[in-house]
Amino acid sequence: MEWKHKHLLGIDQLSGEEIKILLEKGNQYRNWLEQSPKKLTRLSGYYLINLFFEASTRTRVSFEMAGKLLGMEVVNFTNELSSLNKGESFRDTVRTLARMKADALVIRHRSSGIPLYISQFLPFHIINAGDGMREHPTQALLDLLTMKRDGIDFTRNTVAIIGDILHSRVARSLSIGLKKLGSQIIFSGPPTLIPKGIEVLEGQVIYPVEEAIRQANVVYLLRIQKERQEAGFFPSTKEYSHFFGLKENLKNTNNGRWKKIMHPGPVNRGLEIDSSLVEKESSLIEEQVSCGLAIRMAVLETLILGG
Ligand code: CP
Repeated sequence: MEWKHKHLLGIDQLSGEEIKILLEKGNQYRNWLEQSPKKLTRLSGYYLINLFFEASTRTRVSFEMAGKLLGMEVVNFTNELSSLNKGESFRDTVRTLARMKADALVIRHRSSGIPLYISQFLPFHIINAGDGMREHPTQALLDLLTMKRDGIDFTRNTVAIIGDILHSRVARSLSIGLKKLGSQIIFSGPPTLIPKGIEVLEGQVIYPVEEAIRQANVVYLLRIQKERQEAGFFPSTKEYSHFFGLKENLKNTNNGRWKKIMHPGPVNRGLEIDSSLVEKESSLIEEQVSCGLAIRMAVLETLILGG
């Protein structure tokens, strides 16, 4: 199939078939990574700029690593050391970067829509690494790859997405991706963190959390995004962990067995989830990180070289 997208701005731009192509390529890279390989030369001579205006460990490092494993030259750029701090506008900063040698640019920014905005005047492939509360498409792809590798059949899959859905770009991208592959979605958490109208993403809102968990086979927990909440917000972190955090007693079981647990990271142990559950057998959280590296290799290669 010929790949028709220059950029990856959101999972909403991809068809189910295109998602499956990226998952297949990501799966091959995940297998390849298990063999402790030496780096490839597929993208040698190409340049990647990593432009992060918000904190990141997984996404930033895995894009850098993915580019290098494919033979790319990678330049990292962060807000702290940029001339934005000397009064330069965001647009002029980006226009300056346009004069550099690059082929692809990965961007994370607190404002929704920034990747789309810069794609209109930059000549590079633009990849959205998280824009405000809007989308985080490579997170959704890595989550889908993790489920696929765990043997989950997307057409018989119900995922309960739990927690701070109001502020979560991860919840948006994941639910769009799941729907395109035929899965069912349940949203749950504190009612103050479930936005009105979330059903447009074709998920069902179910309270309380225990009931949402009971109906799902995957429990996908979200980080509480304190940086996007106002002071005095309900629930406080203490209230959240007490009333909504995943604990041993919420065993949410299929005949006594734990359901699969996922979380995009970074995990706040003891808040969204009891520390003991992070490394539980049914937790896919570390595998999500490994799939992140593989899927970002797949995305870079597909955008630059085609499908
Ligand atoms: N899940 C995620 O985007 O993690 P980082 O913020 O560490 O990149």
